[in-house]
Amino acid sequence: MKILLIGANGEIGKILNPELVKNHEIISAGRNSGDFRIDLSDSHSIEKLFEEVKNIDACLCVAGDCYTGDLHSLDEEKLNIGIKNKLLGQINLVLIGQKYLNDNGSFTLTSGKMADKPVKNNISKSIVNGGINSFVLAASLELERGIRINAISPGKVSDIPIYDLVQAYAKSIEETLNGQIIKVNY
Ligand SMILES: NC(=O)c1ccc[n+]([C@@H]2O[C@H](COP(=O)([O-])OP(=O)(O)OC[C@H]3O[C@@H](n4cnc5c(N)ncnc54)[C@H](OP(=O)(O)O)[C@@H]3O)[C@@H](O)[C@H]2O)c1
Repeated sequence: MKILLIGANGEIGKILNPELVKNHEIISAGRNSGDFRIDLSDSHSIEKLFEEVKNIDACLCVAGDCYTGDLHSLDEEKLNIGIKNKLLGQINLVLIGQKYLNDNGSFTLTSGKMADKPVKNNISKSIVNGGINSFVLAASLELERGIRINAISPGKVSDIPIYDLVQAYAKSIEETLNGQIIKVNY
């Protein structure tokens, strides 16, 4: 399959890229690195990427920043970091990318354990991750042309065996799952 991997140079991307490339063609993208540049917070940049990279079977996103800090330090501006980059960024990726993906293609987004099991100082991640999961559940009912969508919700990646993390993403790409939140290391 031809896979667009957004965030290929990040902690998760660097684990996935060398494993997925064994069975697939990987096109890497990132804000400052990779085969192509994309800024998830800018819908024009997303559209430009899909115009440039054709015939994608699977779009996999492991990117998107969030503010870290407690409830009392949080304000609209800080909350908007995660909303614009990680939440709306991944949602826009699907809203725009659905026009470009090959028939029977798939989107795999990344949320995170904080959606279900929040810990102090991470309220922004909890909100954003929960929003991504809800979007995936709802969008999976309406995507057309056989296109599927799932979210991977990992715990702390440095605590996860590489095999488990790769398997979660590979399952979403290679199997027939749709509308699933795949929890890893809860
Ligand atoms: N690491 C964990 O333990 C963990 C656990 C649960 C969930 N997650 C989530 O998984 C995702 C990836 O995590 P990570 O630890 O791999 O992150 P990371 O190490 O910070 O890497 C993120 C990558 O995404 C790219 N990126 C960041 N913002 C972007 C934007 N606005 N547009 C396009 N690309 C952007 C960066 O590209 P450049 O390098 O080119 O700038 C970077 O390569 C995040 O959303 C994170 O919240 C991570």
